[in-house]
Amino acid sequence: MNGKIVASKTTEDTFRPELLNPFVHHLELGTTYEKIKTALFTILLLPIRVIIICLLLIAGWLIAIVGLCGLPEENLREKPITGWRRKLTGLVCFLGKSTYTAGGLHMVVKGRQATRSEAPILVTAPHSTFFDGGIIYVTGFPSIIVRRESGANPYIGKLINFTQPVYVWRDDPDSRQNTIKEIINRATSSLDWPQILIFPEGTCTNRSCLITFKPGAFYPGVPIQPVCIRYPNKLDTVTWTWEGPSALKLLWLTLTQVYSYCEIEFLPVYTPNEAEKRDPKLFANNVRNVMAKALGIPVLDYTYDDCRLMTRAKEMNLPNATTLVEVQKLRHRLGLDQSNVEENLIESSISCKYSMVTILQFADYLNIALNDPLLHQLFQYYDTNSSGVIDFREYLLGVLATSKNRNVLDSIKIACKVYDSSGVGRLSPEDFAKILNHTLAIRVDEAMNVFQQIDKTGLNYVTFEKFQSYAEKKAEFASLFSLSKEKKVKSKNGDICPEYDKKTE
Ligand SMILES: *[C@@H]1O[C@H](CO)[C@@H](O)[C@H](O)[C@H]1NC(C)=O
Ligand SMILES: *[C@@H]1O[C@H](CO)[C@@H](O)[C@H](O)[C@H]1NC(C)=O
Ligand SMILES: *[C@@H]1O[C@H](CO)[C@@H](O)[C@H](O)[C@H]1NC(C)=O
Ligand SMILES: *[C@@H]1O[C@H](CO)[C@@H](O)[C@H](O)[C@H]1NC(C)=O
Ligand SMILES: *[C@@H]1O[C@H](CO)[C@@H](O)[C@H](O)[C@H]1NC(C)=O
Repeated sequence: MNGKIVASKTTEDTFRPELLNPFVHHLELGTTYEKIKTALFTILLLPIRVIIICLLLIAGWLIAIVGLCGLPEENLREKPITGWRRKLTGLVCFLGKSTYTAGGLHMVVKGRQATRSEAPILVTAPHSTFFDGGIIYVTGFPSIIVRRESGANPYIGKLINFTQPVYVWRDDPDSRQNTIKEIINRATSSLDWPQILIFPEGTCTNRSCLITFKPGAFYPGVPIQPVCIRYPNKLDTVTWTWEGPSALKLLWLTLTQVYSYCEIEFLPVYTPNEAEKRDPKLFANNVRNVMAKALGIPVLDYTYDDCRLMTRAKEMNLPNATTLVEVQKLRHRLGLDQSNVEENLIESSISCKYSMVTILQFADYLNIALNDPLLHQLFQYYDTNSSGVIDFREYLLGVLATSKNRNVLDSIKIACKVYDSSGVGRLSPEDFAKILNHTLAIRVDEAMNVFQQIDKTGLNYVTFEKFQSYAEKKAEFASLFSLSKEKKVKSKNGDICPEYDKKTE
């Protein structure tokens, strides 16, 4: 567990997932002391460490080359390596562990690793960084699940191939099925294969919770051993998430720490019962609960995109921001995301009618059969006080502003239509205040000021176009017209976490 995060909640607590986004990591060198220390060690310690690490890596690479020498590819895939080649893996592990020690990252082991006959699969979580790779050396060189492209890399590829990995072929249409088949074959084979090591989350988080486990590791229905990873350090220089420091910065900051720890804990082997053998998702969830408890952190069933959507909706102060993820899921199941029903409604300029809407009208507007239970579920999200009427405008703005990658300016345009009580685009001060409050999170009194500045001639209304040309000239609205924040993050950290078992879902 990261020292900075105080985790008191476990899976049993009532817990509001909408407040969490584990795909962010903030890392600042706080004090001047830290900064001076880092600068000093960059000069004194870093070069020595880098040289030693490079030497060890080259040694490991050469051993992998020797170990693979004269071994046809088919052999590598069809049966486990044996004899002197197998013995060499021990040497690679030793060198690998030395690499980490040379970098100042000490790997501490708790518990006992099961043998392959006790547990053919090791399930490792939480996955938070590329440093997690060290677990391969600690666990005696198990097979990993990797993308085909990683094996082509001339350096890493040799080491990866030496683990006899299960490859995921991205361009194979049956990739998911084939990967699962291969995992099942390996896990249930009578041959002496290495154990299989899987990070079931498939992507990195900041270890504040466990996200959904992909069921790949759980299809074979064999006993598995859960393995927890912790980084109990004062300064978290390892976490590699979508929004956070780059890999190079993390490497630099970690190598300039005098030492840091990685704790690897083997939990007792988990043997699935009959129900879990039949249902890999159930098996996955139950194992996740065991691990969450051991780690003292909650579980969270949202994807990165879900978390981003919620964070954005809350920042914008969209109506009903916290339920929008669930609402969008329902919309998807109803097929509304494929049609333009809602867009057409706001274009029809009769939004003023939408403030009080019953389930009958709701069904009619969305063109969904009144007896569809999903429709009622959707309605309930907005009918908080069971009065039988909802403010349909809140629904329209919320779902339209968060669908199809709209930027904030688009959302404002939508809000201008939704909250237009004149029906002709002339926004009263009240409409305008509501619009800015529910898209830019601006307080009503401030919004009124903006209104007055736009409406210099005293017409007592503004339009979207007038707002736009006003905002273009004002520094405080500049962000509306630049590249959105999430696009910047995407282009910066384009290919972030090794999502190797993405396809084994
Ligand atoms: C990690 O994620 C949690 C939300 O799950 C967040 O509150 C916390 O600030 C994040 N930690 C860091 C160091 O960014
Ligand atoms: C690893 O094995 C694959 C085939 O399984 C092969 O195509 C690839 O070239 C190998 N990588 C290296 C670096 O030898
Ligand atoms: C939706 O938002 C309105 C105010 O914007 C609030 O009164 C209502 O309780 C919210 N409903 C839910 C389900 O959060
Ligand atoms: C609560 O009920 C009243 C009618 O009883 C209604 O006017 C109001 O809009 C409702 N509020 C919400 C958030 O549904
Ligand atoms: C407008 O949005 C802000 C969020 O920044 C909120 O605090 C405020 O209560 C909202 N409503 C009004 C009437 O100002």
